[in-house]
Amino acid sequence: MSEQAEIILEGKSHKLPIVVGTENEKAIDINNLRSETGYITLDSGYKNTGATVSAITFLDGEEGILSYRGYPIEQLAERSDFIEVAYLLIKGELPTKQQLDEFYEAITMHTLIHEDIRKFYGAFPTFAHPMGVVSSVTSALSTFYPESLNPHRGEEKIFLTITRLLAKFPTIAAWAYKHSIGHPVVYPKNKLGYVENFLNMMFSMPTDEYEIDPVVVNALDKLLILHADHEQNCSTSTVRLAGSSQANLYSSIAAGITALWGPLHGGANQEVIEMLDRIREDGGSVDKWIAKAKDKNDPFRLMGFGHRVYKNFDPRAKIIKKACDDVLNRLGIKDPVLEIAKKLEEVALNDEYFVERKLYPNVDFYSGIIYRAMGIPKDMFTVLFAVGRLPGWIAQWKEMTVNKEPIGRPRQIYVGSKSRDYINIADR
Ligand code: ACO
Repeated sequence: MSEQAEIILEGKSHKLPIVVGTENEKAIDINNLRSETGYITLDSGYKNTGATVSAITFLDGEEGILSYRGYPIEQLAERSDFIEVAYLLIKGELPTKQQLDEFYEAITMHTLIHEDIRKFYGAFPTFAHPMGVVSSVTSALSTFYPESLNPHRGEEKIFLTITRLLAKFPTIAAWAYKHSIGHPVVYPKNKLGYVENFLNMMFSMPTDEYEIDPVVVNALDKLLILHADHEQNCSTSTVRLAGSSQANLYSSIAAGITALWGPLHGGANQEVIEMLDRIREDGGSVDKWIAKAKDKNDPFRLMGFGHRVYKNFDPRAKIIKKACDDVLNRLGIKDPVLEIAKKLEEVALNDEYFVERKLYPNVDFYSGIIYRAMGIPKDMFTVLFAVGRLPGWIAQWKEMTVNKEPIGRPRQIYVGSKSRDYINIADR
C-alpha cells in the first residue's frame, strides 16, 4: 500500500494520501479533508500549499535548481533562444527544425496590432505607468478576437490565440513606451527576429534608424529565457486562478500582468535601480542602507534581495550576474551604480542578518542594471519581465484549461462579529 499521512482530529484518526512528484517532491493530498472532517487548512500566502500538479517547471529552492520541462535553465540560457523556449514551455517538447520554423512564421505573421487598438494609446495620459497600459491593452485584445472567449474550442484554434498574443505582446509593450515619451509608434518589421523587432520598435525614430547591436540582442534574449517561467509564483497563480473561471487567455494574462507589477514581485527590478540611485545620491555608502534594511522599525528593505522559494541562491541571478558583466564590458559602460550593487551584495552576503535569514540577490538585482545599460527606461523594466514571463503564463493557463481544473476558490476562517441583529439608524 502506498504511503499515507495520518491526522488525528478530536481523537479520531484520518488517513490522507501522499502524492510524490517526479523529482520526489512530496505532498499530503487534502482534497477530501473538509468533506471528511469539517476542517480546512490555514496557510496565509500559500507558503505550504500546492495548488496544482504541473509538468511545466521544476524548481528546488534549497538546491538552487530550475528547469523547464526537465531541461536545466543553465543549458537553455546558453544554447537555446527565447522563441524555442516559448515553444518548449507551451508545447511540452523541444521543436524539430520544421516545427520551430513554422512557429517563428506564425508569430511573425501576427505582430501587427489592429489600428483601432493604436487609438487606445492616445487615451492614456503620457505619464501613465506602462504596466497599466500594457495590461489594459492585453485585456482589450479579447474584444477584437471574440472567439477567444471560449477557452475550450480545440487545440488548433487556441494555438492561434496563443500565437497572436506572443506576436503582438512586444508591439503592445514598445508602443506603451513610445506613447509615454510622446513619440510616434514604430510598426513591427517582420524581417527582424523577436528580440530585434522589440528593440527596433522601442528605439527606432522617424529621424534615425536604430542600430541593432547583437550584444544587446543576445543579453536580452537570455534575460527573457531566464524569466520565461517560474512555476506557481504570484502572477502565474493569478493567471491560473483567473483562468480557472474559464476567463479567456487575454484577460487571464492581463490579470497576471497586474499581479506582476507589485514591488514585491516583478516590480522589484525597477525598485532595485531606484534604490541604487538613491544610495548613490546619498553619497554611495552602503552601510547606512544595510542598517536601514535590518532595522525592524524602518520599512526599507534591500530590493532585489530575498526570495520566497530560493533560500540558498537564485540560479537565474548567477547567470544574469555574468551576463551583466559581459554587457557592461562589451558596451564599454562604467556604471557607478554597478559598483554600489557589488558593494551591497558583498556586505549583505557577509552580514549575519542576511546570512541567518538566507537572503541572497535574486534575479531582479542584476536585471535592472542590464536593462539600464541597454538604454531601457526604468518604467519599462517590469514590462520586460512580462515579455519574458508571457510563454510561462500561457503554458500554465493552457495546462490548467486542458486538465479541466476546477474553479479556484480558497476557504477562510471567519474572525468577524458573531451573528447580530440589525439596528435602525435612529437607534445607533
Ligand atoms: N531586506 C531586508 N530584510 C528582508 C528582506 C529584504 N529584502 N527580505 C526578507 N527580509 C527579512 C524579513 O524582514 C523577515 O525578517 P524577520 O524574520 O526578522 O521578520 C525575514 O527576512 C523573512 O522575510 P519574509 O518577508 O517573511 O519572506 P517572504 O518569503 O515572505 O518574502 C520577498 C520574500 C517578498 C521576496 C522578500 O524577501 C522581499 O520583500 N524582498 C524584496 C523585494 C524583492 O526583491 N522582490 C522580488 C522577488 S523575486 C521575483 O518576484 C522575481
